[in-house]
Amino acid sequence: MGGIRQLSFTLVPGENATELLDAQAHIWNHIFNFVNSLSLKCAAELGIPDIIHNHGQPMTLSELITALPIHPTKSPHVYRLMRILIHSGFFASKNRSENDQEEAYVLTKPSRLLLKDNPLSMTPYIVAMIDPMFTTPWNYLSTWFQNEDLTPFVTAHGKTIWDYGEHDVKFAHFWGDGMASDARLVMNVVINKCKGVFDGLESLVDVGGGTGTVAKAIADTFPDIECTVLDLPHIVAGFQGSKNLKYVGGDMFEAIPPADAIFMKWILHDWHEEECVKLLKRCKEAITINDKKGKVIIIDFMVGNQKENEKSTETQLFFDMLMMVTVNGKERTEKEWAKLFLDAGFSDYKITPILGLRALIEVYP
Ligand SMILES: C[S@@+](CC[C@H](N)C(=O)[O-])C[C@H]1O[C@@H](n2cnc3c(N)ncnc32)[C@H](O)[C@@H]1O
Repeated sequence: MGGIRQLSFTLVPGENATELLDAQAHIWNHIFNFVNSLSLKCAAELGIPDIIHNHGQPMTLSELITALPIHPTKSPHVYRLMRILIHSGFFASKNRSENDQEEAYVLTKPSRLLLKDNPLSMTPYIVAMIDPMFTTPWNYLSTWFQNEDLTPFVTAHGKTIWDYGEHDVKFAHFWGDGMASDARLVMNVVINKCKGVFDGLESLVDVGGGTGTVAKAIADTFPDIECTVLDLPHIVAGFQGSKNLKYVGGDMFEAIPPADAIFMKWILHDWHEEECVKLLKRCKEAITINDKKGKVIIIDFMVGNQKENEKSTETQLFFDMLMMVTVNGKERTEKEWAKLFLDAGFSDYKITPILGLRALIEVYP
């Protein structure tokens, strides 16, 4: 009797058992969403992509186990890690040949982007973003909703991410490496697909340019452009410039060196509206000095630019949450970008949609 009474409590009228179980499965799937990211991190740390790549042909489970730097007691578990990584698209399994029916692992496009020798490797970005320093603040999200802290990062670590970077050298390095790995990939596409953006420029300042990966790519490809990296003094300390590249330490909210173009990749999404408008006004001053009319070049997410692809939208929303949790920033729709430009006194902008989830935006005074 007790069981029957409980069932009638559990099922909402009109809902059948299948729907109830689907709802439970949906919750399970979301509870354990982190399994995908942490399994990916494990694969990167164990060097599985490189091991399979260096094998030179599809690699069987036993060959992989022999090559992996793991304790022998863990050998029986390797197929389980590989099974979920196949499911999440990082590896595939195929027969080695017509004569050899044994299943063997091969890389996929995403795992090729994890190879250490791939100049566009995303492994440093994975290592940085799935570090407990970045994941811990997520445990403080509801606490943060109930307190006055700027971000859950502040609630968790007691300081902003920028202050944290100033005092923790290890963090500054792995974050710098993570950013640089993204910059290499993006600049590869930008320089191949939209060289015209740099036509006619004699000078460019990469604001918040970090370790200078973006500016180096531009300086090497366009030797006639004088490039400057502007970032916080402790970030650029010790970096050596070259013929057409120099590093300047400073606060972008205070002053930006004059130039034909100001470049900002993954900067404005770190900040809230007021700060963005202030920063854009500084940019406008820098490109209009002496009656010049330069431009601002922005690379950032454009929320909703891939509406037809549910996974892309979800990834943009992940980043939006990441900005809220770590830096008090946000990802913006085109409408929100346009408002920022207008509020900062710009008259026009042009979007070049060649960067997938992100966009290249040129903004004109
Ligand atoms: C998300 S990272 C982007 C780095 C680089 N643009 C890229 O995409 O690879 C943000 C950068 O802004 C810099 N930054 C933060 N506050 C700054 C400030 N007030 N003045 C100058 N740079 C700043 C940080 O040090 C960091 O290098």
